[in-house]
Amino acid sequence: MLKEISLDLATRLINHGPVVLVSSCYNDKVDITPVAWHMPISKKPPVIALEIGENHYIYECIIKSRDFAINIPPKSVVKKIVKCGSCSGRDVDKVKMCGFEIQPSKEIRSPAINGMMGVLECVLKEDKYLLQEYNIVLGEVKRALADEQNFDEHWLFTTDEKRTIHHLGNRTFCFPDGKILDLKS
Ligand SMILES: Cc1cc2nc3c(=O)[nH]c(=O)nc-3n(C[C@H](O)[C@H](O)[C@H](O)COP(=O)(O)O)c2cc1C
Repeated sequence: MLKEISLDLATRLINHGPVVLVSSCYNDKVDITPVAWHMPISKKPPVIALEIGENHYIYECIIKSRDFAINIPPKSVVKKIVKCGSCSGRDVDKVKMCGFEIQPSKEIRSPAINGMMGVLECVLKEDKYLLQEYNIVLGEVKRALADEQNFDEHWLFTTDEKRTIHHLGNRTFCFPDGKILDLKS
């Protein structure tokens, strides 16, 4: 179960650099894309920067809809991340193809993904220079949610399944207990 947490703590959900799944909806079409290159850039108000390829469909959805959710997936979602990052929402319905279930957000129109460790509902904060020079999309967090058993001012990682996913490169990932998973084979 997710609980709403103070916006003052919102950036702590991604302080340690987990792979996130960004979801955004434009014209009733939802896209979901893994993003590893992101960072908090302000605590008050909480603002997150994402580096997103300008040809990615999620980029278009975010720019046109002006909002998105940052979903923080647990370890069990690692194979879906590879699948979801290997095709474009322009060509396929990734929600169906990857077997995600989505749910309405409260502060934004884009939906969040069920079964996540945390969710940040973000509104696009457009900075033309960062966008044009570096494809950096900024989101101001309007609502933050975290797994009630696993977050108490910071992540707790109480069980093996409830760990975030970290991208080492290609199809190799690691988890906060130091275990490395290579999905190449
Ligand atoms: C683990 C992982 C991390 C990724 N991180 C990023 C990232 O930080 N920025 C980015 O632009 N693309 C990243 N990608 C690539 C996109 O997710 C991928 O190109 C995706 O298919 C784009 O889909 P879309 O066209 O539906 O947006 C990543 C892919 C994977 C598998």
